[in-house]
Amino acid sequence: MTRRKTAELASERAYTRAPAEADERDIQRFADQVAALAAGDSDTAPDLLTVRPRLREEQKPREDGSAKQDGIDVLLSQHDLIRQLLARVGSAQGECKESTFHELRALLAMHECAEEIILRPVSKSTIGIDVAEARNQEEKEIARLLAELEGMDMSTGDFDSRFAEFELAVQDHLGQEERDEFPSVRSACSEAQLRKMASRVRVVERVAPTHPHPVVAGSATAQWMTIPFAALIDRIRDASLAHRKREPGD
Ligand SMILES: [Fe+2]
Ligand SMILES: [Fe+2]
Repeated sequence: MTRRKTAELASERAYTRAPAEADERDIQRFADQVAALAAGDSDTAPDLLTVRPRLREEQKPREDGSAKQDGIDVLLSQHDLIRQLLARVGSAQGECKESTFHELRALLAMHECAEEIILRPVSKSTIGIDVAEARNQEEKEIARLLAELEGMDMSTGDFDSRFAEFELAVQDHLGQEERDEFPSVRSACSEAQLRKMASRVRVVERVAPTHPHPVVAGSATAQWMTIPFAALIDRIRDASLAHRKREPGD
């Protein structure tokens, strides 16, 4: 067998097994891959760990019982935070509007990525492929709108009207997940499975992209194949933005 054929087969095997059989080892390998890639850039790597201190702090398991959260609790608490940030962007101005939008953008990118990789393969079997696929498609549309907003001037009326449209799409999507998908997963899984889901969601979010990638959004398989690279590029981009903010003269 030629070397090329062997590589094609290996890639095909990874393609077919990744979403359905993802376990801690896959996720850890995924995290290691991003860390190894990041370590190759010694100037940027230290910053990669500090670009999202606020999100990292809010998502850290606390001793007041949030460490006992199951996977659905983790996703629901992120929904609360997404709603708060949507409202804040809608009412903020200037620099505050910009920084809140970027916080929302990073949280949404990581949240939807974790849902597509960890939650959706489960909900496909609990609520059905059609509903799971409808949620994936909504996430793809959200990624498309988010990417569009990211390229706009936030001080314009155009941004505000596009953002209002985006907010409606996000609110509708969160509501759909909370009405049907989350309850079906929670009632079909054991406590241990739901607890495991929480740790998987947290691991994926630590290494997920922080910017929207509409081309791969909506597909767990495409996410698995491209995320380590997209995540690295996003973190370098975030680190360089943070650096420019700290030292605007550079
Ligand atoms: Fe979602
Ligand atoms: Fe969600």
